[in-house]
Amino acid sequence: MIAIIYGTTTGNTLDAATKVQAQLGGEDKVELFDVKDIGLGALEYFTKVIFAIPTWDYGEVQEDWQDVWDEVDETDFSDKTMAFIGLGDQYSYSEWFVDAMGMLHDKVVAQGATVVGYWPVEGYDFEESKALTEDKKLFVGLPLDDDCQPELSDKRIEEWCALIQADLAD
Ligand SMILES: Cc1cc2nc3c(=O)[nH]c(=O)nc-3n(C[C@H](O)[C@H](O)[C@H](O)COP(=O)(O)O)c2cc1C
Repeated sequence: MIAIIYGTTTGNTLDAATKVQAQLGGEDKVELFDVKDIGLGALEYFTKVIFAIPTWDYGEVQEDWQDVWDEVDETDFSDKTMAFIGLGDQYSYSEWFVDAMGMLHDKVVAQGATVVGYWPVEGYDFEESKALTEDKKLFVGLPLDDDCQPELSDKRIEEWCALIQADLAD
């Protein structure tokens, strides 16, 4: 079983999480948790986990994720295989594109996680992002931009799920 833990303010991240759930085998294989309802409580029961987080207010963490932000630093991720989805807007917030995904990734890595699902920067147009690998060739997870490139999201989700499927299999 895989857990997707998401936070959302206007629904886009839930929409993405639901599509990823369907792509990875549906409700029998993937359970969805709103971080607002359950915090990080689900982590105890899963070793394969996807965190899904939008960026808000010029590089800030979405408010429900903010509520568990410090708790992430106190959680042991060393038994977990993790992947990340980040919602953002690359044109209006070009200097902060999906920053929150990068910030969350860095904290989870510091706590011992194995991360899968790194994703090429090709096809996105932005100034800066905290969600890049050191060589700036990859994002640390899957960025989705339902504001500026909604027509690309389904295909990106499909390809990304194919990429991570084997790593997140039972
Ligand atoms: C006021 C405001 C601030 C935002 N700030 C950022 C930002 O700094 N970086 C970014 O990539 N996207 C930013 N966005 C875009 C949101 O992340 C994007 O709309 C996302 O799909 C929202 O996800 P949600 O519906 O799950 O809350 C911002 C949007 C608004 C309305």
